[in-house]
Amino acid sequence: MITLDDTLSQVWEHLHAGVDDRNHPFRTPVFCTQGQQGPNARTLVLRAVDAENNTLICYSDTRAGKWAEINQRAQAAWVFYDPDNGYQLRAYGQSKCLTEGALVERHWAAQDGVARNNYRSFGGPGRPLDGPTDGVPDSQRNKDVNAGREHFGLIVTRLTELDWLHLAIDRHRRARFVREGGEWQGQWIAP
Ligand SMILES: Cc1cc2nc3c(=O)[nH]c(=O)nc-3n(C[C@H](O)[C@H](O)[C@H](O)COP(=O)(O)O)c2cc1C
Repeated sequence: MITLDDTLSQVWEHLHAGVDDRNHPFRTPVFCTQGQQGPNARTLVLRAVDAENNTLICYSDTRAGKWAEINQRAQAAWVFYDPDNGYQLRAYGQSKCLTEGALVERHWAAQDGVARNNYRSFGGPGRPLDGPTDGVPDSQRNKDVNAGREHFGLIVTRLTELDWLHLAIDRHRRARFVREGGEWQGQWIAP
């Protein structure tokens, strides 16, 4: 029978697979924040996982809604779903926004020119446009590869709680892990 320790290992394996494997369903979680009008959520790409420090990382334009929301209220939730295995993971923690430092530079350096265009829209995400484009003028697209750097940042969530649900054929299983005294304390709970 599966143990809580096995389950926790499975959680981290899946998270790592989300970063390493472009086709893994954990690559594109939903990231949830508390907005001015209530809950807010969006799909994004899981960029890094650090099981030692219990952190998850995504990229954001520093002018995006989520950036301001995290700066207002740091508590965030990530929701992952793997339909093939019937796994859902909800991961909760405090987030912070980073624009400087070796970690940010390393992630910026790892992106190709096309990905860097994501941080170059004039006025930033959410600005009204005249038509269906991304806000980056064609004359400037892919020209200066460092142009988006000033709007690029990392959101780093330090996890304090994990909620793992396995919808299995024989019976569903659900486990909650809470960070206490520097350890993950696990508990089976009703699905
Ligand atoms: C598959 C997919 C991947 C995405 N990846 C990211 C991402 O890594 N970072 C990001 O800021 N937005 C990403 N987006 C766009 C967000 O869903 C969202 O539209 C955008 O970040 C603006 O949201 P906000 O105003 O809440 O910040 C992605 C969208 C999709 C559909």
